[in-house]
Amino acid sequence: MFPNRVASLQFSGIRKLFEAAPPGAINLGLGEPDMQPPKEMIEAFKDALDRGMNKYGPSAGIPELRKAIAENLKSYRRDVLVENIIITAGATEGMRIACDTILGKGDEALIPNPGFIIYGPDVTLAGGTPVEYSLSQENSFWPDPDEIQELVTPNTKAIVINSPSNPTGAVFPEHVVKAICDIASDRDLYILSDEVYHSFVYEGKHVSFARFHDDTIIVNSFSKSLATTGWRIGYVATSKEIVEQLAKVQYYTLACPPTATQHAVLAGMKIRKRFRESMLSEFRTRRDLMMRKLSEIPSFRTPPVDGAFYVFPRYSQETSSDEFAQRLLKAGVICAPGSAFGTRGEGHLRFSYANSQENIERGLEIVSEVAETL
Ligand SMILES: Cc1ncc(COP(=O)(O)O)c(C=O)c1O
Repeated sequence: MFPNRVASLQFSGIRKLFEAAPPGAINLGLGEPDMQPPKEMIEAFKDALDRGMNKYGPSAGIPELRKAIAENLKSYRRDVLVENIIITAGATEGMRIACDTILGKGDEALIPNPGFIIYGPDVTLAGGTPVEYSLSQENSFWPDPDEIQELVTPNTKAIVINSPSNPTGAVFPEHVVKAICDIASDRDLYILSDEVYHSFVYEGKHVSFARFHDDTIIVNSFSKSLATTGWRIGYVATSKEIVEQLAKVQYYTLACPPTATQHAVLAGMKIRKRFRESMLSEFRTRRDLMMRKLSEIPSFRTPPVDGAFYVFPRYSQETSSDEFAQRLLKAGVICAPGSAFGTRGEGHLRFSYANSQENIERGLEIVSEVAETL
């Protein structure tokens, strides 16, 4: 028999749905940019392979990339150095080793509901207990500091937080970020901040928790910002002491992050501003199109979204989100049921606008037709 912490893990509900999609279905479920990475990065990747970068590298990642990331993060905090950065195999591995490093048996970590699917399993696999805090449409999908305060017990070790957020598209404003940081400082908690969508902010600005709380562990990645989800390169930025512990855990998990890929990402960092601007402008247009189309569906309530590339409308039909998503799938549109992101996601659907304007337009026509029949 397998231990419960493993046996109790579920495959993602989203994956199952994608696999059942009919050929030609319009995919409004994608969790990755639909564009390719900049050609300079692909050239740099090939070049790194030709130059023999095919061997193990340092467990914490190549110093050049760590340094480039540290320089970049100086806009959050002036004191960031190479020693504060560890390169990981995407945010997925970053979050996993961060939980393994800071949580032990009996420790509680607060996680969002609805929230990205990895947090609960990561806490559980580390031997800890996930405790959910709620995000609701009434509260703009921002965390409620009073609720967080009430959920903190003597066993709480960390607050896991994600802004810009998957699945809701919310970007937490500075006063919310500060309020959460105040609680974390008062109660001596880590903030585990998943910032993978930091470069997808359409209104306002991204505020990092690291600005207001020293014990913040930023988990980030190049998957979305440089459209390299398959390359598996991300990073964790935090104190030197935590990075040293993370490097040990990473050594026993991964040995080291892939060498040639890190060189390619380093090349990407030099041109990321240009890439980001063009991607952001395209995604903003798509967001506006999606919001307009969704507002034409009377049974949907879709408040404005400021970041990431998702919208998370609530619908009024008496149908489970799983059933709704299945009906859409049969009609030729893939989306994610809200329940895949936690109990509080029920009654919502997540649509991604990481698809062409034409597909968004056609896809939402179908959604509108199906919604009318339910
Ligand atoms: C909020 C969030 N965090 C982390 C990840 C994982 O990113 P990575 O490809 O860097 O592992 C995703 C991917 O969809 C995500 O949406």
